[in-house]
Amino acid sequence: MKSPKTRVIVGLQWGDEGKGKISYLLCRGADAAVRFQGGGNAGHTVLVEGRRLKFNILPAGSAAGARPVIGSGCVIDLSRLLHELKLLRSTNPSVKPVISPSSHIVLNIHRELDAEVEAAREDSIGTTRMGIGPAYSDKCLRLGLRVSDILDPKAAAARLKTLERFHRRSVSEPLSSRAEEIAEYVEDVPAYLSRLVRHGGRVVFEGAQGTLLDIDYGTYPYVTSSNTIAGAACTGSGVPPSFVGEVVGVMKAYTTRVGAGPFPTELGGSDAERIRSAGAEYGTTTGRPRRVGWLDIPALRYACMLNGVSWLAVTKLDILSGMEEVRVCTRYEMDGSELKQMPTESRILERVRPVYEVFRGWKASEEDWRRAAKIGWDELPPTSREYLEAIEEMTGVLVGLVSVGESVGYEVCRTDTSA
Ligand code: IMP
Repeated sequence: MKSPKTRVIVGLQWGDEGKGKISYLLCRGADAAVRFQGGGNAGHTVLVEGRRLKFNILPAGSAAGARPVIGSGCVIDLSRLLHELKLLRSTNPSVKPVISPSSHIVLNIHRELDAEVEAAREDSIGTTRMGIGPAYSDKCLRLGLRVSDILDPKAAAARLKTLERFHRRSVSEPLSSRAEEIAEYVEDVPAYLSRLVRHGGRVVFEGAQGTLLDIDYGTYPYVTSSNTIAGAACTGSGVPPSFVGEVVGVMKAYTTRVGAGPFPTELGGSDAERIRSAGAEYGTTTGRPRRVGWLDIPALRYACMLNGVSWLAVTKLDILSGMEEVRVCTRYEMDGSELKQMPTESRILERVRPVYEVFRGWKASEEDWRRAAKIGWDELPPTSREYLEAIEEMTGVLVGLVSVGESVGYEVCRTDTSA
């Protein structure tokens, strides 16, 4: 089957599934890579030819040569954006991003408020403190400063006056100089993408965070402040649903979570330590140690349903190598009854007890993984294939790609990943 013209990449867990690498792979030969939600809270890393590239606001897929696009659903920290552009130019000097005039700007006010709201809460969320929630709340209050505003000093001054009066604090960002630096890239994103897709261009939409952090469908209030599911690719970049060809669901071979909130399959003790250290499970953006746990099938099924996942990309399978047995939560129990579906109400999810199926572990050396990446699926350790096949059976979705290392090049593809 020919690969579709557009793909939406989403995380199926609580973020950090490895979307950066998958986006890079799917963006080779693509025309545009689009971020449609979130901001500097995301940390998408790609390791190519020994070079580690870390993106917070630009799509990681732009490192593969696709034109970076930032849609109106994003909130932008301009200094971070300019820094990442500089980095990207060191590998691709002619890169020209497309920035939506309707995307909102994250200001120092928002970062300050993020920390203050966290301190005031009874139930701290453990945000990245990048000002994401306050920036989105100003957007909804219709107080936010948009990219288009800073291109017009008069409009910016009026908007800033209200914003500063409302928040009773001042904005301390060099907005006019930053506006000058980005002005040439500001373009109508829906019109650009519409033209591109109608002329046969290939577009990859790169989701940030994960489904269970979605503001509406995640484990509220322990979520981020945007919609992270595939549907948000449309609202956050202004393309119609009919443009979406395929939805690629990225999931880690186990589960992690940063910050507070329910996590039914969370592990403690030596198993957690082992996985955290083997998988380098520390936040890309904040450096915080990630909470670690077994795979959670009810949660994955829920995420597949919400996103309409076409195929799964399973990452970090190699991290579980060497474990005697690997557990998978197949259902929950609560108050003596069985729950097959994931309750998303945090108060309820906190009370469920995971019921596990035990799988035989696998052991493979670096060399074994390299061979599997070269030859294909049948070269994967047989018990790891049993694990993957069980995931397919329990989610009802095909595993199209397995990633077995951080570097680009270490992956087993079962589907056409070309752009
Ligand atoms: P915020 O997005 O900074 O407001 O943080 C809200 C919650 O989402 C916190 O639990 C964060 O740890 C989590 N979060 C935000 N971005 C990411 C991400 O890119 N990966 C994993 N967790 C994230």
